[in-house]
Amino acid sequence: MLLKKFLTIIVLLALIGVGSTIPSNVTPNSPTINLDDLVGNITDTCQPALLKIFTSPEFLACVPITALVLLLPIIPEIENIKKNPKEILNYLDPIDQFSNGICSAPKCSDDFVQSSIQDILNGCTTDLTSNNTFVGLIFVVTIFYSPLRDSICFKDNNTFCIHETLNITLNLPDSPFNITGNNIIDTIAVADPGQVCTQCNKDIINTFGNFLKNNTLALQILAQAGINQTRIDTMKIGVAVKCGINFEDGQIPNNPS
Ligand SMILES: *[C@@H]1O[C@H](CO)[C@@H](O)[C@H](O)[C@H]1NC(C)=O
Ligand SMILES: *[C@@H]1O[C@H](CO)[C@@H](O)[C@H](O)[C@H]1NC(C)=O
Ligand SMILES: *[C@@H]1O[C@H](CO)[C@@H](O)[C@H](O)[C@H]1NC(C)=O
Ligand SMILES: *[C@@H]1O[C@H](CO)[C@@H](O)[C@H](O)[C@H]1NC(C)=O
Ligand SMILES: *[C@@H]1O[C@H](CO)[C@@H](O)[C@H](O)[C@H]1NC(C)=O
Ligand SMILES: *[C@@H]1O[C@H](CO)[C@@H](O)[C@H](O)[C@H]1NC(C)=O
Ligand SMILES: *[C@@H]1O[C@H](CO)[C@@H](O)[C@H](O)[C@H]1NC(C)=O
Repeated sequence: MLLKKFLTIIVLLALIGVGSTIPSNVTPNSPTINLDDLVGNITDTCQPALLKIFTSPEFLACVPITALVLLLPIIPEIENIKKNPKEILNYLDPIDQFSNGICSAPKCSDDFVQSSIQDILNGCTTDLTSNNTFVGLIFVVTIFYSPLRDSICFKDNNTFCIHETLNITLNLPDSPFNITGNNIIDTIAVADPGQVCTQCNKDIINTFGNFLKNNTLALQILAQAGINQTRIDTMKIGVAVKCGINFEDGQIPNNPS
């Protein structure tokens, strides 16, 4: 399986810290990344599709592999982080270095992103409908590449916005109330607007908001994840209540159902 060989080489590069821009303290010190678990069962039509994307000159130019490998140690921790989001604060250094890498490379062109989406749709439908996590993740990241990359590269006062927002949000005092049943959302709901309605969050929210306008495919993906238009509108109203009507560009829906 050529795709797996390719990924094995990437993981090995990560482990030996090739690229030398990777300081030894953030490279994974024990190879706990099991490729079979990570990649799962990929169909014979999907493998060449993904391999074509990962080895294309455009991809290698706009997504530096040396930056990408910095995130590998986080993958086995995802379940932990879902349960206890504060865990992600242990990874701010590799996240910063990943941001430095990806933001010093040029942004991938829209044409390349669109053709990659098409390649995945052509080769990987079976994998997507059988819920292969790895292929699903690649598909979602490809679709949301543009606003993700922009958000990762926003800075405030020389700090990456992702870093600033994670540091502020995850260190907010716990809400004494259980309003939505979601700890983080409740915490943000009762937080001081000054801590939540930052320029960083304004930039990120508006970047995603503009991207979603008329983006049928992206809206479909969100709906599959349980975030349909009703919930997007509810969130917009929540943000407007918290941060003021001028925080978001464009229209606040005036007739939420
Ligand atoms: C992978 O797919 C093959 C063929 O569809 C199947 O026989 C095998 O059980 C699958 N393995 C896993 C781990 O899902
Ligand atoms: C994939 O996920 C969807 C939605 O969660 C579910 O309805 C479907 O049964 C899953 N398919 C498989 C093959 O597991
Ligand atoms: C920017 O960072 C410097 C040094 O870390 C700090 O002294 C200053 O207060 C910060 N400014 C803002 C607006 O956060
Ligand atoms: C998090 O924010 C606090 C308060 O602004 C600051 O003192 C601290 O250095 C930040 N930590 C990180 C890891 O950025
Ligand atoms: C908050 O309420 C939800 C139900 O609305 C419940 O499932 C959850 O356990 C509660 N969380 C806490 C921390 O009490
Ligand atoms: C979005 O779609 C609607 C209806 O299809 C259309 O009226 C509107 O002009 C489109 N907006 C943009 C920014 O393309
Ligand atoms: C969105 O999902 C909720 C349930 O999660 C449902 O009640 C509502 O009708 C859906 N809205 C749309 C526009 O599909």
